[in-house]
Amino acid sequence: MSDTGSSNGKQKSKVHPSGDDRYVALDRTMKRFHNEKDALLEVLHSAQETFGYLSEELLFYISNHLHVPLSQVYGVATFYHLFTFEPQGKHNCIVCTGTACHVKGSSEIVEKMSAVLSIPVGKTTEDGLFSLSTARCLGCCGLAPVAVINGEIQGKATPETIAKKVGLILADEMVVQDQEEAG
Ligand code: FES
Repeated sequence: MSDTGSSNGKQKSKVHPSGDDRYVALDRTMKRFHNEKDALLEVLHSAQETFGYLSEELLFYISNHLHVPLSQVYGVATFYHLFTFEPQGKHNCIVCTGTACHVKGSSEIVEKMSAVLSIPVGKTTEDGLFSLSTARCLGCCGLAPVAVINGEIQGKATPETIAKKVGLILADEMVVQDQEEAG
């Protein structure tokens, strides 16, 4: 399907050749930066925002369009903690492991959450409900140790408070599932 309407007589297609319209947004970002190599970080941000994670295919696409070697694209993407390479869960828990949080025991929170969810850091539960990740500093060191659950900052966190929060979310999900099953 293509849009044949045009004010200057030329035909413009709105559908991306890949068939995935999310690429239209990504192309727009790259175009805004004139496909400059220097825009790599911005483009990676935009890609993650649009697609939710950076797939191999996406990194390859960006490498091609910005004329940056794939190794360099990988290098930049893996350097920054905020990029993810797998689809994320419906809910997410990010534990800060920056210096201030580390000193105040964030590694115990990570361990606990990893045990509660039965997944290592950087992974998503099999049912796709929860992702667990870490960040180097979430910018609120005064509240250390800090975790973020579904975008909500949990300051002065303990393994127990975070596990309880996550447990409540999972319990809610089970209620929803039961209701769905009951029709
Ligand atoms: S080190 Fe954790 S918020 Fe800064």
